[in-house]
Amino acid sequence: MRSRPLLLLLLLVAATAAPTASPSSAFACAPGGPAASLPFCRQSLPLRARARDLVSRLTRAEKVRLLVNNAAGVPRLGVAGYEWWSEALHGVSDTGPGVRFGGAFPGATAFPQVIGTAASLNATLWELVGRAVSDEARAMYNGGRAGLTFWSPNVNIFRDPRWGRGQETPGEDPAVSARYAAAYVRGLQQPYAAPNGGHRNRLKLAACCKHFTAYDLDKWGGTDRFHFNAVVAAQDLEDTFNVPFRACVEDGRAASVMCSYNQVNGVPTCADAAFLRGTIRGRWGLDGYIVSDCDSVDVFFRDQHYTRTPEDAAAATLRAGLDLDCGPFLALYAGSAVAAGKVADADVDAALLNTVTVQMRLGMFDGDPAAGPFGRLGPADVCTREHQDLALDAARQGVVLLKNRRGARHNRDVLPLRPAAHRVVAVVGPHADATVAMIGNYAGKPCRYTTPLQGVAAYAARVAHQAGCTDVACRGNQPIAAAVEAARQADATVVVAGLDQRVEAEGLDRTTLLLPGRQAELISAVAKASKGPVILVLMSGGPIDIAFAQNDPRIDGILWVGYPGQAGGQAIADVIFGHHNPGAKLPVTWYHQDYLQKVPMTNMAMRANPARGYPGRTYRFYTGPTIYPFGHGLSYTQFTHTLAHAPTQLTVRLSGSGHSAASAASLLNATLARPVRAVRVAHARCEGLTVPVHVDVSNVGDRDGAHAVLVYHAAPSPSHAAPGADAPARQLVAFEKVHVPAGGVARVEMRIGVCDRLSVADRNGVRRVPVGEHRLMIGELTHSVSLGVEQLGV
Ligand SMILES: *[C@@H]1O[C@H](CO)[C@@H](O)[C@H](O)[C@H]1NC(C)=O
Ligand SMILES: *[C@@H]1O[C@H](CO)[C@@H](O)[C@H](O)[C@H]1NC(C)=O
Repeated sequence: MRSRPLLLLLLLVAATAAPTASPSSAFACAPGGPAASLPFCRQSLPLRARARDLVSRLTRAEKVRLLVNNAAGVPRLGVAGYEWWSEALHGVSDTGPGVRFGGAFPGATAFPQVIGTAASLNATLWELVGRAVSDEARAMYNGGRAGLTFWSPNVNIFRDPRWGRGQETPGEDPAVSARYAAAYVRGLQQPYAAPNGGHRNRLKLAACCKHFTAYDLDKWGGTDRFHFNAVVAAQDLEDTFNVPFRACVEDGRAASVMCSYNQVNGVPTCADAAFLRGTIRGRWGLDGYIVSDCDSVDVFFRDQHYTRTPEDAAAATLRAGLDLDCGPFLALYAGSAVAAGKVADADVDAALLNTVTVQMRLGMFDGDPAAGPFGRLGPADVCTREHQDLALDAARQGVVLLKNRRGARHNRDVLPLRPAAHRVVAVVGPHADATVAMIGNYAGKPCRYTTPLQGVAAYAARVAHQAGCTDVACRGNQPIAAAVEAARQADATVVVAGLDQRVEAEGLDRTTLLLPGRQAELISAVAKASKGPVILVLMSGGPIDIAFAQNDPRIDGILWVGYPGQAGGQAIADVIFGHHNPGAKLPVTWYHQDYLQKVPMTNMAMRANPARGYPGRTYRFYTGPTIYPFGHGLSYTQFTHTLAHAPTQLTVRLSGSGHSAASAASLLNATLARPVRAVRVAHARCEGLTVPVHVDVSNVGDRDGAHAVLVYHAAPSPSHAAPGADAPARQLVAFEKVHVPAGGVARVEMRIGVCDRLSVADRNGVRRVPVGEHRLMIGELTHSVSLGVEQLGV
């Protein structure tokens, strides 16, 4: 999203009537209203038919004013205006105009920023957070302070460590991002069947997966997202960039997808029919609407000069399959584009059918919302104790323990600290008393804050607070000496450092992976002076090169906490003092600073190219040195794995008998007269074709703890795989979080889909399942599964 010049805002006001503030005061299909008896208000009819009826009653002028986020009302039909743009990335947010805090709704529960919640690797948590957010959002809708269409989550792959919006995403791994997308969307939307047995796909809220696709550069060097043409290989699109979007639509059943600002291979994503109509609606079967990022259409017309006239831009995006424009562009130019014959009325109708159907699924044409299934949600359902406890739980589950030094004195790990042994604790660093910074971007107004200082104070007899740096930038003259003095006198020192929105944000990518300004100097000086143990707590979305702290023996423990939300300070203290045993894992690779020299942010290639000195991106393709690898995260206990059950052989059968002959023929290499080495997923019988993997996790330490079982896959070596496969060295194909009491064992059962997870995309983006030895790596275990193919007439 971006703010536009005043001129456009004025045009918007001129072009569209302001939406009615409260949906409960003037709802569509009100009894006795102008439309009460019309088919679109009749709840017994199929939703699509009702939507078609409504659209058929509109004039062209009325229609084009419904193509924009600030949709105008149609008073003659009793239809109020509607603001489509609301946000709920990690709590109800007033980043978009659809949400307004105030009155009975002063704030909403602020969950941790997504990158931290992703680190928990707990899909149950992801869905529960979505549910809590949707309760609060519905409550605010009922109070006339929010919409029902939320443009969250952001599921772009966190490809480059500098990206300012990486914090909003579930990280760099396609499987984690895919599962996060589906779980959070399910929680937000909570689909249900209509009570009268009508449409079975009713929605509590409509979520939106954004920003499709290959968008992960905001502003770097001379390039910004409004002008960037991302040159992306078909292979990378298929096995990296599009994976979370597909899961969002196919598994999460998201009601919306947003196209991005950037171009992909020379075409603005919002004008790309192959993407919008082809991939999203055609291949994945989106049941919902496609929306532009805010002013995307204007951006590809004005900034990218993609079309000659604004009418051509309006026509291009509608023909490509866009249904809703965030921004005024279509309200201004779609009418004249139709009049000029550049786009058909039918295209406009098709777009409206998609948006209005979603509104119908949300119950917006079912009369008084107070009488609907969520009508009772109100102010008492926002910032509830339960939701605030979940925010705390999420913050704790997102804490990654990066380092825990074995202390010389007692020959035990320094963390957790024993409160009784550390009566006076110095809490220093620019984030020691953080509030807003803990929320990250796409923030709302939190119910309350617990700062790190307050969190630690609950465990110590006394805390000594010295910021050391007046802000995160920490440049020039800084009160470092005072922080050093506090550490010298305390029994233990907690340094809370890191980044904030002035360093990494929307519209702002980083230029370095190092801590800003004099922060490293502060941390080292404090560690040197400290009489007791020193714990470094890092708040950030993106990775930080902290080699200096990693190697400093006077820094005993390091925690990464993302941006931990409103309860962040308590979560941090609960981990430091052992009330919560950390179990999260890094969702991104922590690179060394010098990695940046080898990867221009504009190079979208995931795969390494050694000939050109290009090292590849993310743990799937980059195999060089790291500060901390993807998946790193310690616990206060230790876990071991035993394989309880997994097949050693599996046969892939070919689909459809009519197909078999052709498939079988293509399975034979005529030259060698022997079977080829990979089966196209399109030719395989994928339904139910899974590898069951059962793992016993033993907690061999002396503390209860939660552990994420990670299953990595390595395809048969390239010589056996499909030609040009360039499969990842290894990649995550399943993960499951499990709680195991000290001394106990817990079994985790996973099923790995062969076609989805064990396939490899070739250079054309075609997925094939390689035949041969597939390896699964689970902690210290490696297991081989031999995949064969049903031989037909060979
Ligand atoms: C068959 O194998 C030969 C030798 O490895 C190779 O050059 C050829 O491309 C293969 N043909 C097919 C259809 O896979
Ligand atoms: C996952 O999160 C839920 C919700 O916070 C929690 O109840 C559950 O214990 C977590 N699972 C594990 C294994 O930690």
